[in-house]
Amino acid sequence: MTPRVPTIGVFDSGVGGLTVLGALLTQASAADYLYLGDTARLPYGSKSRATVARYAVSSARFLVAQGAEALVIACNTASALALDALRAAVDVPVIGVIETGATAALQSSETGDVMVIATAATVESHAYSAACRERGLRAIEKACPLLVPLVEEGWIEHPVTREIVGIYLDDLLSHAAAAGMTADTLVLGCTHYPLLRGVIDATLRERDSGPAVRVIDSAQVTAEQVVVRLALESSAQREPAVRFYATDSVEKFRTLGTRFLGRTIDGVELIDLGG
Ligand code: DGL
Repeated sequence: MTPRVPTIGVFDSGVGGLTVLGALLTQASAADYLYLGDTARLPYGSKSRATVARYAVSSARFLVAQGAEALVIACNTASALALDALRAAVDVPVIGVIETGATAALQSSETGDVMVIATAATVESHAYSAACRERGLRAIEKACPLLVPLVEEGWIEHPVTREIVGIYLDDLLSHAAAAGMTADTLVLGCTHYPLLRGVIDATLRERDSGPAVRVIDSAQVTAEQVVVRLALESSAQREPAVRFYATDSVEKFRTLGTRFLGRTIDGVELIDLGG
């Protein structure tokens, strides 16, 4: 008899969390998944803690009502601002991405100096600085508010995106140097940013600033953590079932999501979580 597998809810404000879902589907295949993109209320990264917590809690409750037995908050902003509220609101294990990102930075950095790019709300919360400090790392954070809309627009290789990424990274590198840091690791502190990985890598190569900078996206590490925390059978070879939900245009989610996830997203259910 085939053993019963758990259903895990994965949640982001949009398509960014698909970077985490993609890692889960390959590394944590002994589970089925529900994915919710709260596209109607995106971006979270420019909103207050209270608003992000309200949106995140309603999204989490929806996923639990659909049968999620654990939640992966595949959104750095919600993980930074609302993890406590989420854990208080639902009765299932909740795994965020900030801790896993900081742990990956610790494994990567030899100098102990780390740069983080994230949404304005994540940076203002200083959740990454705190998580890095706890691990003996020094972190410098930079808000990159224009990147999420560019990703949601699908402008991945666009010249405007290259220009904006260049401006943000130049600013970050010069601030790190002015602070006397020898940063060798860049954490992509927003689940939308791995979709810009090509542009980010190319920009860092062009800048050739001191030690080669290793880029961390927390998707892989988060998937590893999920396997451990939920005691999933890591060797299971199976095709997980996935159901997708979005709070705004299902067609846009399907088209962009298929591109980003690298596999066809057939049915996306439109849901209404209110304002
Ligand atoms: N993907 C989300 C994150 O990791 C942010 C997107 C948004 O601003 O809504 O922070």
